[in-house]
This record gives sequence, C-alpha cells and structure tokens, in this order.
Amino acid sequence: MAEWNNSQLRKYNIKLGKIPVLQHDDPKLDSYLCNNKPVLIKGSQLISSALNWDIDYLQKHMSSICCNVMISSNHRFKYYDQKKITPTLTFKPLSRPSPMTFSEFADKMKKWKKGDPRLYMQQALNNSIGHHIVRDFVMFNWDWVISKQKICKWGPLTSNLLLISQEGNITPCHYDEQQNMFAVVRGHKRFILFPPSQFECLYPHPVHHPYDRQSQVDFDNPDYIKFPKFKDACGYEVVVGPKDVLYIPIYWFHHVESLMSSSYTVSINFWFKTGPIEKIEYPLQDYQKMTIMRNVEKMLGEALHDPNEVGSILRTIVVGRYTSDEN
Ligand code: OGA
Ligand code: FE
Repeated sequence: MAEWNNSQLRKYNIKLGKIPVLQHDDPKLDSYLCNNKPVLIKGSQLISSALNWDIDYLQKHMSSICCNVMISSNHRFKYYDQKKITPTLTFKPLSRPSPMTFSEFADKMKKWKKGDPRLYMQQALNNSIGHHIVRDFVMFNWDWVISKQKICKWGPLTSNLLLISQEGNITPCHYDEQQNMFAVVRGHKRFILFPPSQFECLYPHPVHHPYDRQSQVDFDNPDYIKFPKFKDACGYEVVVGPKDVLYIPIYWFHHVESLMSSSYTVSINFWFKTGPIEKIEYPLQDYQKMTIMRNVEKMLGEALHDPNEVGSILRTIVVGRYTSDEN
C-alpha cells in the first residue's frame, strides 16, 4: 500500500508537538493509559483479523446492511446531535445523514468523481452485521484490550464504530466523553490532539447547541477576532497507519484527516466508559473540571427552562465580579 508524505498534511497555523510511540509490551505503556496521556501503540494485533476489510470484502459480507453514511458538501464532517436541533434555532449543517445499504455506499465510493458530495461511513458494529464480519470481530485481540481496560479501571465497552472515509475528509476538532482506542485498518489518518487544559483556546460550542463538544474554530480559516486565544493553541500530532492503535484519552480534543496514501481509509474505534470514581483527589484534573462545567451549563438550562438564557445569567454572575485578577 502507498505511503504518505509530509506534503499531504494540511498546513495549519498551530504549534505542534509529537505524540509518543510505544510498543504494545513496553512497560511504560500502562502509565500513559492510566494517566490519560495519549500514545501511539505498535504491535498490539488488536484488529489483525480485520486487516482484509477493504470495500470489496465488506461489500461481499455486509451488502444489504443499512449503514449510517454522512454526506458533506465540503471536506469537513462536523458531527451534530440531532436531538439538540430546536425549531427556534437557525441551524444549517453542511453535512447530513444519508442511510443506505453497504452496497449502495460501495457503488457511490467507486463511482465518485471530483465535485461530487463527499461520503463518510460511520457505522456501529453489532451482531446484525453478517456472520463473516462477526467472525472477524470476535477474533480481535480482546485479551489485550480487556487487560488494558482492567488495568486502567475503565468502565464497559460501549461501542465499536467502523469508519470508512474518503481521502481528504476531515473530522473537525472535538472531544468525546469516553476513552478511545482507535485502530486503523487501511490507509493513514493524521490526528491533532489537544489536552482538556486548552478548552479556552478551542472554544467548544455551548452544551445545548447541536454542535456540543465541537470546537467553533474552523482550522482552515480561523477567526482570530472571535477566537483570539486560538493563537495560543498547542497540539500534538501523529499519523496512524494500518495495525497502529492510538489511545485518545477522554475529553482530549481531536482533529482527524484521512491522508492520500489510499483513496479511502478504514478504521475501527473502541469506546469505553470511564470507571466509577473511587476517591476524588484535589486539585481536580482538567478533564474533571470539564465535567463540572458541562453540568453547570446543563443545570442552568434546565433551571431556566431556556438554554438561551444561560449565557446572560453566567455573564451576570461573572462580569465585574470574577473577571479581575484581584478578586
Ligand atoms: C473518534 C473520532 C473521527 C475520525 O473515533 O472519536 O472522532 O474521522 N473519529 O476518525
Ligand atoms: Fe471523536
């Protein structure tokens, strides 16, 4: 399979460091995973039984399965929560869900030409997905990933998403509320990660907005007037290729692009809940403060019966009272 090179990486005006790379049996690995530090893991064999999952193989074995395909008029696939779209909101997403069978998706991918709307399949793997695929799925290296789940005291596995992306597609910067082991099967994906401490530089949308958890900043064209602290954002990048697994810690922001090493990428993520809190230690970690902020926003929205009033009440509390360093 073709390789990628630096010229394929989109250029952004962001300071970037590197994500560390460790072998699966490196004794230092567990301390990264248990301390919410991102790391690229080599040699885990997590998805070796899926390395033959290309579009032809999947078409053969899941042709009539209905899949969740997103269609976008540009290269950005910014996720939104349909449940948060309200009649009073003027919300015009640039991508939209277009459910279709795997066969229809495969045909569209094969016939795709420049100028057509872009496609990105994001389908949860479940047991209705065809017995060949289920057979490969049960042969994943569950022993390895479950041992990590135990060591780090993560909660249950909630889902595995199968992601099939055209080259050049982008998942804009956002955070998730789960631990993620992200495995690439085919092609290369470039990730830029930011720790939860950079919340202020990345300006996520309000909790009640359909774009909850997504950064408001368009990395291709940042509005520094609206988002001045984006200038201080400082990320960590890594290119993840076949057989590699990237650990994306809970609440870490991530931006993902599919590179041109192949006309499409195939990847599978493993989302785990966090474990129960045993003992709260102070000072709190940044990601724990993010849950507090989310809860305050949610609580105010509920108490006021109107998410639109949250901003003004927060300003009333803060401006002139908590805005000076002398307080
Ligand atoms: C994720 C994620 C996006 C992508 O797995 O949490 O954001 O394009 N993936 O792979
Ligand atoms: Fe994500």
